[in-house]
Amino acid sequence: MLMGEMEDLIELAKRRGFFWQSFSIYGGFSGLYDYGPLGSIIKERVYRAWKDIYMGLGAIEIDTPSLTPDPVLKASGHVDRFIDMAVACTQCRTRYKIESILSDKGVDAVPQNVDEARKLMDGLDLKCTRCGGKLGEPFEHHLMFMIDSQGERMYARPETAQGIFVNFRLLKNYNRDRLPMIVIQQGKGYRNEISPRQAIIRQKEFNMAEVEVFLDPDVNGAFTPTLQEEIHMHDMDGKDHFTTLPQALEKNIIKSPDHAFFLEITYRFAMDIGMDRERLRFRQHRKDELAHYSSDCWDLEARINDSWLEITGISDRGTYDLSRHHGASGEKLYIDGTRFARVIEPASGIDRIIASLLASSMYKRESGYSVLKLKPEIAPYPVALLPLQKKDGLQEKAMEIYGKLKILEPYAYYDDSGAIGRRYARQDEIGTPYCITVDYDTLEKDIVTIRERDSMEQIREVNVDQILSTKGFLNNPVLQAFTVKK
Ligand code: GLY
Repeated sequence: MLMGEMEDLIELAKRRGFFWQSFSIYGGFSGLYDYGPLGSIIKERVYRAWKDIYMGLGAIEIDTPSLTPDPVLKASGHVDRFIDMAVACTQCRTRYKIESILSDKGVDAVPQNVDEARKLMDGLDLKCTRCGGKLGEPFEHHLMFMIDSQGERMYARPETAQGIFVNFRLLKNYNRDRLPMIVIQQGKGYRNEISPRQAIIRQKEFNMAEVEVFLDPDVNGAFTPTLQEEIHMHDMDGKDHFTTLPQALEKNIIKSPDHAFFLEITYRFAMDIGMDRERLRFRQHRKDELAHYSSDCWDLEARINDSWLEITGISDRGTYDLSRHHGASGEKLYIDGTRFARVIEPASGIDRIIASLLASSMYKRESGYSVLKLKPEIAPYPVALLPLQKKDGLQEKAMEIYGKLKILEPYAYYDDSGAIGRRYARQDEIGTPYCITVDYDTLEKDIVTIRERDSMEQIREVNVDQILSTKGFLNNPVLQAFTVKK
């Protein structure tokens, strides 16, 4: 049982500068979080890994506004259907998402309207968890933030996807009409969450990484999975399967090869950034959970605090969005004649990915000190340079080496405050894989010691010139000497 992982993470994140609540000098506001200096670097690295995998598949990128005019989201169905069923306490006015309070009572259901909500709640003796008060009548809670722009209604976008769909014709021209066409967009999304919680896991403004894969609707299997690794799949009937994706296709657990392929890519991305495979599963949505645009959806979920958290949804959006915008805008959004492209969408919540990556990377040594076992390519600082002491010219020597190292490795870090053991512990806690120590031998013989985070193994007598021999410290061949390979 890993109770408290998230609590430990939130404490570490604030103290060491990964993330913290926004506007805290004004008391903080729920559902709004800042990335601090370390979190900002990790976010960039996670985005980069995501982009690299899709660019490798031939994707094209687009960057569209967050402010979205009403007609776009009317056509997409969000204005009318992007709604949660909610209740409020009759005494303290705290609002609850009905789906969540049902789930706390062991009922897995998503009411689609007020009548259904009332029926599902009937006889469950629900009370306000904050003040014990009686809960009122169910009502519709709209999930979009509405903005008035000189009388013109806009919304803060609930997904980046619509910016891609409305540009379909221009993107198709750019891509010289070739299908499949993969378009990616990273950026902020906004949801007026009823109960934001668990720091960066459920926020009102969050970081999205969305991919729209446009396929010829009459070609089944432009992409097919090949990964020969057993993966945990939890289907919509609640059955668990431990199977490879090609087998899952054969066994009809998942029906479309293209859909299965993008589950595979999502899984590969999770591996690339160092997610713990033991804590991952794909879960298929039940019919009542599907978003209004989706006909089938599998979520990649990560286990955190002993419960499953959606980090990426891989949805089959079919021809829904293009046909809706075609009808509403008057713009021809066919691929040819009268056919619309079919769309598969792997959509990731970057903040949730970061939270689950950090939570699953934290462990404590017997000494009680905590370590963040991040992949070196994802860790904020690949290397820290630490003089043994400040005196006897060690600080000056270390600064001289650091100045040169920084040119080759911009993310190198320098720390000379406190005892050396404490400084190692500080670097372990933020996931720095390698520390270089500058000591009296450096003054005399121009040699340093490198220490590896997880094994705490040290390589001694490394020539300073060797340290400064490559662009990007992690490419340095000297690291091959460690017996524990990263
Ligand atoms: N575009 C997928 C989502 O909004 O979750």
